[in-house]
Amino acid sequence: MAFQIPRGTQDVLPGDSEKWQYVEHIARSLCSRYGYQEIRTPIFEHTELFLRGVGDTTDIVQKEMYTFEDKGGRALTLRPEGTAPVVRAFVEHKLYGSPNQPLKLYYSGPMFRYERPEAGRFRQFVQFGVEALGSSDPAIDAEVMALAMHIYEALGLKRIRLVINSLGDLDSRRAHREALVRHFSNRIHELCPDCQTRLHMNPLRILDCKKDRDHELMATAPSILDYLNDESRAYFEKVKQYLTALGIPFVIDARLVRGLDYYNHTTFEIMSEAEGFGAAATLCGGGRYNGLVQEIGGPETPGIGFALSIERLLAALDAEGVELPVEKGLDCYVVAVGERAKDEAVRLVYALRRSGLRVDQDYLDRKLKAQLKAADRLGASFVAIIGDEELEKQAAAVKHMASGEQTNVPLSELPHFLLERIGKEE
Ligand code: HAM
Repeated sequence: MAFQIPRGTQDVLPGDSEKWQYVEHIARSLCSRYGYQEIRTPIFEHTELFLRGVGDTTDIVQKEMYTFEDKGGRALTLRPEGTAPVVRAFVEHKLYGSPNQPLKLYYSGPMFRYERPEAGRFRQFVQFGVEALGSSDPAIDAEVMALAMHIYEALGLKRIRLVINSLGDLDSRRAHREALVRHFSNRIHELCPDCQTRLHMNPLRILDCKKDRDHELMATAPSILDYLNDESRAYFEKVKQYLTALGIPFVIDARLVRGLDYYNHTTFEIMSEAEGFGAAATLCGGGRYNGLVQEIGGPETPGIGFALSIERLLAALDAEGVELPVEKGLDCYVVAVGERAKDEAVRLVYALRRSGLRVDQDYLDRKLKAQLKAADRLGASFVAIIGDEELEKQAAAVKHMASGEQTNVPLSELPHFLLERIGKEE
């Protein structure tokens, strides 16, 4: 019987894994440039954390969580997102007491959602995210959005669009909520059963409904921006001002409500506008969540962050035809002809690797020609050939693959010779 990978998951094979590494490397180094430090949390958490954190009326909690009971009878859930776990760690380790405020964190790792798999939508996907905790300065909202945009731009994406909105503070949201209930009440039976429940539990979620997206009541629904109180409006103005000052273009979409319950004030998404990008066009989502730390048992602490999926980022790079400058190949392939040369090659390859070079050799007893072919396939910059004659002289015939130029180099000088030549090429 042949096993198959579970639906909605994928293997990342050599050839692609280099792209993952490159993307993660760029994202990490930009985070450190912006003063964000890495946090690693477990892949599973107590289920209750997500009920509280993400919100029990969200699709994520109601339909998409991988929840199980462990042998000790605990209800655990594979994390569907990273914000609630980071906030849990922030509270548990009393990081709010650290002199380092705001605390700026980033993370990268697999998330799990039981969604209908389609292009760009997986059941296990990798999010790279940041969370800045402890500041309600609109400048940090701009910083977080700038960082996300910077990551995409550094990787070479051009056709991306930043979409922002404000959900306002609690008062603004309450006023908007009442307006939504008034708007939908009379005709709620025209919407799906989920929306009918949402009307009284959490009417904002109706705006996020995947089934009723095109219903006419959606287009005419009251806009949150008309219900922002003065304070919330001033906050949003300041965020926009900072984005403009940074030269980051954005569009405002009053219908951007996001699928998680913890948001207030700024929410944003980054979309790909590359051709052929359909349902998975949202590359990144984030926003401010000033009540979440308290909800999870900590002191009142504002927060803002985003998460982007690496799968969608790579798909967007593909769609825009961006080639990542991933390291390929070897510096040198050591070709050995004959048994004695083979013994020498084993020693030589190790010595070259110890000196910092990327080196490989034949392990299949191949003939000279086949070894040269292997070197070519592996993208080796140089081939060092040793046979009886070379052994006699304690030298290798070194061939530069690109030019075909060949030189004899004493074995003892080979590391130095290659390091110098490779250094010049790079
Ligand atoms: P989210 O919008 O649920 O927000 O997810 C963020 C990003 O993860 C999405 O924009 C999308 O690129 C990616 N994503 C979500 N579901 C899938 C999936 N099934 N397959 C592939 N990619 C997916 C959050 O998770 C929040 N924790 C973001 C945040 C951080 N807000 C504040 N801080």
